[in-house]
Amino acid sequence: MKTDVVIIGAGPSGLMLGHLLAQAGIDAVILERRSGEYVLSRIRAGVLEQGTINIMKQLGLDERLQAEGIPHDFVSLTDQDKLIKIPVRELTGKHVVVYGQTEITKDLMDAAPSRRVQTVYEAADVALHNIEGDAPFVTYEKDGEEHRIDARFIAGCDGFHGPSRKAIPASASASVERVYPFGWLGILADVPPCAHEVVYANHDNGFALASMRSNTRSRYYLQVPTNEKIEGWSDDRIWNELKVRLGSEFSSNITTGPALEKSIAPLRSFIFEKMRYGSLFLAGDAAHIVPPTGAKGLNLAASDIAYLAPALIDFFKKNDPSAIDAYEAKALARVWKSSRFAWYLTSLMHSFPEDGDFGRKMQIAELNYIANSKAAQMSIAENYIGLPL
Ligand code: FAD
Ligand code: DHB
Repeated sequence: MKTDVVIIGAGPSGLMLGHLLAQAGIDAVILERRSGEYVLSRIRAGVLEQGTINIMKQLGLDERLQAEGIPHDFVSLTDQDKLIKIPVRELTGKHVVVYGQTEITKDLMDAAPSRRVQTVYEAADVALHNIEGDAPFVTYEKDGEEHRIDARFIAGCDGFHGPSRKAIPASASASVERVYPFGWLGILADVPPCAHEVVYANHDNGFALASMRSNTRSRYYLQVPTNEKIEGWSDDRIWNELKVRLGSEFSSNITTGPALEKSIAPLRSFIFEKMRYGSLFLAGDAAHIVPPTGAKGLNLAASDIAYLAPALIDFFKKNDPSAIDAYEAKALARVWKSSRFAWYLTSLMHSFPEDGDFGRKMQIAELNYIANSKAAQMSIAENYIGLPL
């Protein structure tokens, strides 16, 4: 089989790229290791920047997002004694929208057959070949049979653990990483949220976050040590700790209920500075991970695609390689800026006992500064709503 672009991974980045290429009349095949149901069952991000929404709009797939997404005009930071409600819309003229990653994925998956976005689910042993040259190919196994797809380009949209990044020789790559000594315990429950906006809380016991998926479904997170086991956290223990860390302003508003899902995810920053190697392009988590503080992971995956899709379209439609040649530098510049914001908010809001009293006092001083400085609030607001492409 032959196609223009083989896309590895049917997460948000792979599906968005597949749709944008199909819309431009470019042939692509998406290979996904898991089943569609499994992909949809992964509870992940929830806060969308305008740039991410614009991709769905450009595809004409934003109807449900516009109807069901919840616009947020504020974001709140709180520590034990103060609440800083940052008016992001008033400061920037823009807002974010709460709409789950699973919903975006569902909208893209549901529209795929009618738009000829070809996706092969449960493709096993996906392997990349001949990526240095201009005739790469991908092999995989499906239902016990070996398959091969020849292409002009491969797009590695296969997340942090996928095979694409690993196909680039170590001698050609450079990566930068920070692993945090804690993770986030997330809980999803069908209860009304405790606040209309997202709340980031800094507490001596550790960070907590209150978010939502709808007016009847809440998403909360707690900072926990990396080696913590989810079995040690009953629903009651999670709710009690959230009430302590979110502070009096919000805890009296927390409605508790059984967990629909709970899990612990580690926190890391990872940037792979080789987003193009020969005929292979990397996008999304395949190339970079940000700590989740600030909700940048999914939005960065989408902004990579906002650069990559038109670049590939220029190549195929105008025979113009200049945009694909510029992809890596453009994407990385934004990746570093978003990574900086995620690092800043992680550093400001989490507990770092190893930094001692001085570290804690600096966090409090910074929060005091933000509380009283429009310039500081503006800086947070423009990053939170998403830096321009
Ligand atoms: P992914 O969504 O990871 O998609 C990659 C796809 O490739 C997957 O479907 C995978 O099955 C497939 N794949 C992998 N290996 C292969 C293979 N060998 N062959 C074929 N296919 C393969 N971001 C936020 O902004 N806020 C959050 O709250 C948040 N929470 C998160 C919680 C968790 C547990 C994780 C892991 C991530 C979270 N993120 C969050 C990050 C956000 O979800 C990601 O940045 C986003 O999913 C990136 O999209 P992607 O398409 O690049 O990668
Ligand atoms: C959510 C996740 C985040 O990482 C964040 O910073 C804000 C909200 C969420 O899952 O809703």
